[in-house]
Amino acid sequence: MPDDGEPGTRDVHQTVLGGEHVLIRRARPEDVALYQDFLAGVSADDLRLRFFADVRELSADEMHKLSHLDYRHEMAFIALDEDTGQMLGLVRLKDELDEKTAEFAILVSSRLKGHGVGFLLMRRVIDYAKEKGLRRVYGDVLAENAPMLQMSAELGFRTQDMGSDIRRVVLDLEDADRR
Ligand SMILES: CC(C)(COP(=O)(O)OP(=O)(O)OC[C@H]1O[C@@H](n2cnc3c(N)ncnc32)[C@H](O)[C@@H]1OP(=O)(O)O)[C@@H](O)C(=O)NCCC(=O)NCCS
Repeated sequence: MPDDGEPGTRDVHQTVLGGEHVLIRRARPEDVALYQDFLAGVSADDLRLRFFADVRELSADEMHKLSHLDYRHEMAFIALDEDTGQMLGLVRLKDELDEKTAEFAILVSSRLKGHGVGFLLMRRVIDYAKEKGLRRVYGDVLAENAPMLQMSAELGFRTQDMGSDIRRVVLDLEDADRR
């Protein structure tokens, strides 16, 4: 898709570790068709790290949300294998009521972990948040989720202890611009 200047519409093409040619683009309603296959490739443990519960099947509600994204207040970027068309990962971003803060959540196919797809998705969603003029993005991460906490730190997020087994990773975008 050509870059028409609207935040979120720029596509990213990148070859990741392992040689996969990855396309990152804004999620579209028809991507729901790829979702069941994608989830079949995500381990129960990774689903728990993402949804904080033992979710073996994506609920009808979650599918509905994905296919009815209101791009003014929510965004999702999907990672696709350009050769096979398979979905490799997804990051979502949802505005808070103040419209300056947004929460992200990310999930990558378990077989592709460590190939750099999560990093690309995070960079894409951070760029989008900056283009949109958001002040802050955050995500809630289980304290045991060392890979996500480490990746967040490398991307400039600070970590807040939420007083339980949850850590909130927060990126202040004005600070990020000065870095
Ligand atoms: C956490 C998760 C999203 C990470 O995705 P991933 O694709 O495995 O992560 P990546 O391969 O992109 O990044 C992993 C590593 O590569 C680094 N990396 C990847 N690409 C990089 C690049 N271009 N430049 C620098 N560093 C890079 C990351 O910082 C990280 O560093 P490390 O290996 O030295 O620890 C994924 O494991 C997942 O889906 N987990 C289950 C769900 C979950 O935990 N979600 C988080 C809660 S919302």
